[in-house]
Amino acid sequence: MANDNMKVVTVMSRKGGAGKTTLVRALASAAMRDGKRCIIFDTDPQQGMLNWANAVGINDPLLKVEHLEFSDELGTKTDEAYDAGDIDYIFVDSMGAAGAWADDLAAASDVIILPMKLSMDDWKSTNDTYDWYKGLAERAEDPEALPGLHVVLSDVPAKQSKTELEFEDDAFEAFPVVSHFFMSRKQHREASKEGLLHTIAQAKRNGVNPLGRVHAKHFDEALDEAAAILKEVTEAA
Ligand SMILES: Nc1ncnc2c1ncn2[C@@H]1O[C@H](COP(=O)(O)OP(=O)(O)OP(=O)(O)O)[C@@H](O)[C@H]1O
Ligand SMILES: [Mg+2]
Repeated sequence: MANDNMKVVTVMSRKGGAGKTTLVRALASAAMRDGKRCIIFDTDPQQGMLNWANAVGINDPLLKVEHLEFSDELGTKTDEAYDAGDIDYIFVDSMGAAGAWADDLAAASDVIILPMKLSMDDWKSTNDTYDWYKGLAERAEDPEALPGLHVVLSDVPAKQSKTELEFEDDAFEAFPVVSHFFMSRKQHREASKEGLLHTIAQAKRNGVNPLGRVHAKHFDEALDEAAAILKEVTEAA
Protein backbone atom coordinates (compact mmCIF):
# COMPACT_ATOMS: atom_id res chain seq x y z
CA MET A 1 0.00 0.00 0.00
CA ALA A 2 1.26 3.50 -0.81
CA ASN A 3 2.93 5.30 2.07
CA ASP A 4 1.44 8.79 2.24
CA ASN A 5 3.88 9.74 4.97
CA MET A 6 6.98 9.10 2.88
CA LYS A 7 9.27 12.14 2.70
CA VAL A 8 11.93 12.95 0.13
CA VAL A 9 14.68 15.08 1.66
CA THR A 10 17.32 16.45 -0.70
CA VAL A 11 20.52 17.91 0.71
CA MET A 12 22.32 20.24 -1.69
CA SER A 13 25.14 22.69 -1.81
CA ARG A 14 27.14 24.20 -4.63
CA LYS A 15 30.36 24.13 -2.74
CA GLY A 16 32.10 20.93 -1.76
CA GLY A 17 32.62 20.19 1.90
CA ALA A 18 29.58 22.03 3.27
CA GLY A 19 28.66 18.91 5.23
CA LYS A 20 26.08 17.24 2.96
CA THR A 21 27.25 13.67 3.35
CA THR A 22 27.75 14.02 7.10
CA LEU A 23 24.27 15.52 7.52
CA VAL A 24 22.54 12.90 5.34
CA ARG A 25 24.21 10.13 7.34
CA ALA A 26 23.09 11.68 10.62
CA LEU A 27 19.51 12.27 9.45
CA ALA A 28 19.20 8.70 8.16
CA SER A 29 20.66 7.31 11.36
CA ALA A 30 18.22 9.34 13.49
CA ALA A 31 15.30 8.08 11.37
CA MET A 32 16.52 4.47 11.58
CA ARG A 33 16.81 4.76 15.37
CA ASP A 34 13.03 5.29 15.27
CA GLY A 35 12.61 2.21 13.08
CA LYS A 36 12.07 4.21 9.88
CA ARG A 37 12.97 2.63 6.55
CA CYS A 38 15.34 4.75 4.51
CA ILE A 39 16.96 4.97 1.10
CA ILE A 40 19.96 7.18 0.51
CA PHE A 41 20.59 8.16 -3.08
CA ASP A 42 24.15 9.22 -3.75
CA THR A 43 24.33 11.48 -6.79
CA ASP A 44 27.98 12.37 -6.30
CA PRO A 45 30.11 11.00 -9.18
CA GLN A 46 32.80 10.37 -6.55
CA GLN A 47 30.21 8.24 -4.70
CA GLY A 48 31.41 9.26 -1.27
CA MET A 49 28.32 7.87 0.45
CA LEU A 50 28.43 4.54 -1.38
CA ASN A 51 32.13 4.14 -0.68
CA TRP A 52 31.44 4.82 2.98
CA ALA A 53 28.56 2.29 3.08
CA ASN A 54 30.79 -0.36 1.51
CA ALA A 55 33.80 0.47 3.66
CA VAL A 56 31.94 0.27 6.97
CA GLY A 57 29.81 -2.65 5.78
CA ILE A 58 26.30 -1.30 6.25
CA ASN A 59 24.07 -4.30 6.64
CA ASP A 60 20.73 -3.17 7.99
CA PRO A 61 17.28 -4.00 6.59
CA LEU A 62 16.20 -0.40 7.32
CA LEU A 63 18.71 1.15 4.91
CA LYS A 64 19.51 0.99 1.23
CA VAL A 65 22.26 3.13 -0.29
CA GLU A 66 22.15 3.48 -4.06
CA HIS A 67 23.84 5.48 -6.75
CA LEU A 68 21.65 7.84 -8.73
CA GLU A 69 23.28 8.66 -12.01
CA PHE A 70 20.72 10.98 -13.59
CA SER A 71 18.70 13.58 -11.75
CA ASP A 72 15.53 12.83 -13.70
CA GLU A 73 15.56 9.27 -12.33
CA LEU A 74 14.66 10.56 -8.88
CA GLY A 75 11.00 11.09 -9.80
CA THR A 76 10.59 7.50 -11.02
CA LYS A 77 12.45 6.06 -8.03
CA THR A 78 10.43 8.06 -5.50
CA ASP A 79 7.17 7.05 -7.24
CA GLU A 80 8.19 3.40 -7.06
CA ALA A 81 9.04 3.64 -3.36
CA TYR A 82 5.82 5.53 -2.67
CA ASP A 83 3.70 2.90 -4.43
CA ALA A 84 5.51 -0.01 -2.78
CA GLY A 85 4.89 1.69 0.58
CA ASP A 86 8.02 0.17 2.12
CA ILE A 87 10.04 3.36 2.62
CA ASP A 88 9.62 6.22 5.10
CA TYR A 89 12.45 8.55 4.08
CA ILE A 90 14.38 9.07 0.89
CA PHE A 91 17.51 11.13 1.38
CA VAL A 92 19.42 12.55 -1.57
CA ASP A 93 23.07 13.45 -1.12
CA SER A 94 23.46 15.70 -4.10
CA MET A 95 26.51 17.28 -5.56
CA GLY A 96 26.39 21.01 -5.71
CA ALA A 97 24.89 21.87 -9.02
CA ALA A 98 22.27 24.34 -10.13
CA GLY A 99 20.42 24.34 -13.42
CA ALA A 100 18.40 21.48 -14.86
CA TRP A 101 20.01 18.91 -12.58
CA ALA A 102 18.88 20.73 -9.44
CA ASP A 103 15.45 21.51 -10.97
CA ASP A 104 14.87 17.76 -11.49
CA LEU A 105 15.80 16.94 -7.91
CA ALA A 106 13.60 19.74 -6.57
CA ALA A 107 10.65 18.51 -8.61
CA ALA A 108 10.81 15.12 -6.91
CA SER A 109 11.55 16.36 -3.36
CA ASP A 110 9.40 17.35 -0.41
CA VAL A 111 12.18 19.28 1.29
CA ILE A 112 15.48 20.84 0.27
CA ILE A 113 18.20 21.35 2.86
CA LEU A 114 21.22 23.54 2.24
CA PRO A 115 23.93 22.91 4.81
CA MET A 116 26.07 25.97 5.39
CA LYS A 117 29.27 26.19 7.37
CA LEU A 118 29.99 29.55 8.98
CA SER A 119 32.51 30.64 6.35
CA MET A 120 32.65 33.13 3.50
CA ASP A 121 32.77 30.42 0.82
CA ASP A 122 29.72 28.67 2.20
CA TRP A 123 27.90 31.95 2.63
CA LYS A 124 28.43 32.77 -1.06
CA SER A 125 27.47 29.36 -2.34
CA THR A 126 24.35 29.30 -0.14
CA ASN A 127 23.43 32.69 -1.58
CA ASP A 128 23.85 31.34 -5.13
CA THR A 129 21.77 28.26 -4.39
CA TYR A 130 19.08 30.36 -2.74
CA ASP A 131 18.98 32.54 -5.86
CA TRP A 132 18.50 29.40 -7.97
CA TYR A 133 15.61 28.41 -5.68
CA LYS A 134 13.95 31.81 -5.94
CA GLY A 135 14.31 31.61 -9.74
CA LEU A 136 12.75 28.18 -9.66
CA ALA A 137 9.73 29.59 -7.83
CA GLU A 138 9.37 32.18 -10.59
CA ARG A 139 9.71 29.60 -13.37
CA ALA A 140 7.44 27.00 -11.81
CA GLU A 141 3.90 26.59 -13.08
CA ASP A 142 2.75 25.85 -9.57
CA PRO A 143 5.12 27.50 -7.06
CA GLU A 144 2.95 26.20 -4.21
CA ALA A 145 3.95 22.66 -5.10
CA LEU A 146 7.68 23.35 -4.71
CA PRO A 147 9.52 21.81 -1.79
CA GLY A 148 10.34 24.10 1.09
CA LEU A 149 13.96 25.13 1.41
CA HIS A 150 15.82 25.23 4.70
CA VAL A 151 19.35 26.29 5.50
CA VAL A 152 21.00 24.20 8.22
CA LEU A 153 24.03 25.81 9.83
CA SER A 154 26.55 22.99 9.85
CA ASP A 155 29.74 22.02 11.63
CA VAL A 156 28.96 24.80 14.12
CA PRO A 157 31.58 24.96 16.90
CA ALA A 158 30.33 24.96 20.50
CA LYS A 159 32.16 28.21 21.02
CA GLN A 160 31.83 30.44 18.00
CA SER A 161 34.25 33.17 17.03
CA LYS A 162 33.05 36.72 16.44
CA THR A 163 33.21 36.17 12.67
CA GLU A 164 31.22 32.96 12.93
CA LEU A 165 28.58 34.71 15.00
CA GLU A 166 28.34 37.38 12.31
CA PHE A 167 27.82 34.72 9.61
CA GLU A 168 25.15 33.18 11.81
CA ASP A 169 23.33 36.52 12.15
CA ASP A 170 23.65 37.22 8.43
CA ALA A 171 22.25 33.77 7.60
CA PHE A 172 19.18 34.36 9.79
CA GLU A 173 18.63 37.70 8.03
CA ALA A 174 18.97 36.30 4.52
CA PHE A 175 17.68 32.71 4.57
CA PRO A 176 15.08 30.46 6.18
CA VAL A 177 17.40 28.94 8.80
CA VAL A 178 16.47 25.89 10.85
CA SER A 179 16.47 26.70 14.57
CA HIS A 180 18.48 23.58 15.45
CA PHE A 181 22.10 23.68 14.35
CA PHE A 182 24.17 20.77 13.12
CA MET A 183 26.95 21.14 15.64
CA SER A 184 30.55 20.18 15.06
CA ARG A 185 30.97 16.86 16.82
CA LYS A 186 33.73 14.31 16.78
CA GLN A 187 31.04 11.61 16.75
CA HIS A 188 30.35 12.51 13.10
CA ARG A 189 33.99 12.03 12.25
CA GLU A 190 33.93 8.67 14.00
CA ALA A 191 30.77 7.73 12.07
CA SER A 192 32.56 8.54 8.84
CA LYS A 193 35.04 5.79 9.72
CA GLU A 194 32.90 3.33 11.67
CA GLY A 195 29.28 3.35 10.52
CA LEU A 196 25.93 4.76 11.58
CA LEU A 197 25.67 6.90 14.71
CA HIS A 198 22.92 4.85 16.33
CA THR A 199 24.68 1.55 15.62
CA ILE A 200 27.89 2.87 17.18
CA ALA A 201 25.94 4.15 20.20
CA GLN A 202 24.35 0.75 20.68
CA ALA A 203 27.69 -1.05 20.42
CA LYS A 204 29.26 1.31 22.97
CA ARG A 205 26.38 0.85 25.39
CA ASN A 206 26.67 -2.94 25.18
CA GLY A 207 30.46 -3.10 25.05
CA VAL A 208 32.93 -4.01 27.78
CA ASN A 209 34.55 -0.55 27.98
CA PRO A 210 33.42 0.96 31.32
CA LEU A 211 33.23 4.38 29.65
CA GLY A 212 31.05 2.99 26.86
CA ARG A 213 27.83 4.35 28.34
CA VAL A 214 29.28 7.86 28.60
CA HIS A 215 30.49 7.69 25.00
CA ALA A 216 27.12 6.36 23.88
CA LYS A 217 25.47 9.39 25.45
CA HIS A 218 27.44 11.72 23.17
CA PHE A 219 26.26 9.75 20.15
CA ASP A 220 22.69 9.97 21.45
CA GLU A 221 23.04 13.75 21.67
CA ALA A 222 24.21 13.90 18.06
CA LEU A 223 21.23 11.74 17.08
CA ASP A 224 18.75 13.87 19.05
CA GLU A 225 20.06 16.93 17.25
CA ALA A 226 19.66 15.28 13.84
CA ALA A 227 16.17 14.08 14.78
CA ALA A 228 15.20 17.64 15.76
CA ILE A 229 16.45 18.99 12.42
CA LEU A 230 14.58 16.29 10.51
CA LYS A 231 11.40 17.00 12.46
CA GLU A 232 11.63 20.74 11.91
CA VAL A 233 12.15 20.52 8.14
CA THR A 234 9.61 17.78 7.46
CA GLU A 235 6.89 19.20 9.68
CA ALA A 236 6.60 22.11 7.31
CA ALA A 237 6.52 19.80 4.23
N1 LIG B 1 28.66 18.39 12.16
C1 LIG B 1 29.92 18.06 11.88
N2 LIG B 1 30.76 17.69 12.87
C2 LIG B 1 32.04 17.35 12.60
N3 LIG B 1 32.58 17.36 11.37
C3 LIG B 1 31.79 17.72 10.34
C4 LIG B 1 30.42 18.08 10.52
N4 LIG B 1 29.90 18.40 9.31
C5 LIG B 1 30.88 18.22 8.42
N5 LIG B 1 32.02 17.82 9.03
C6 LIG B 1 33.32 17.56 8.39
O1 LIG B 1 33.51 18.44 7.28
C7 LIG B 1 34.09 17.75 6.19
C8 LIG B 1 33.18 17.85 4.97
O2 LIG B 1 31.98 17.23 5.26
P1 LIG B 1 31.19 16.35 4.18
O3 LIG B 1 32.07 15.38 3.52
O4 LIG B 1 29.97 15.85 4.86
O5 LIG B 1 30.80 17.50 3.15
P2 LIG B 1 30.16 17.33 1.69
O6 LIG B 1 29.33 18.54 1.50
O7 LIG B 1 29.50 16.01 1.56
O8 LIG B 1 31.44 17.38 0.78
P3 LIG B 1 31.56 16.96 -0.77
O9 LIG B 1 30.93 18.09 -1.52
O10 LIG B 1 33.03 16.87 -0.97
O11 LIG B 1 30.83 15.68 -0.96
C9 LIG B 1 34.32 16.32 6.64
O12 LIG B 1 35.64 16.21 7.06
C10 LIG B 1 33.38 16.16 7.81
O13 LIG B 1 33.86 15.21 8.74
MG1 LIG C 1 29.74 14.50 0.13
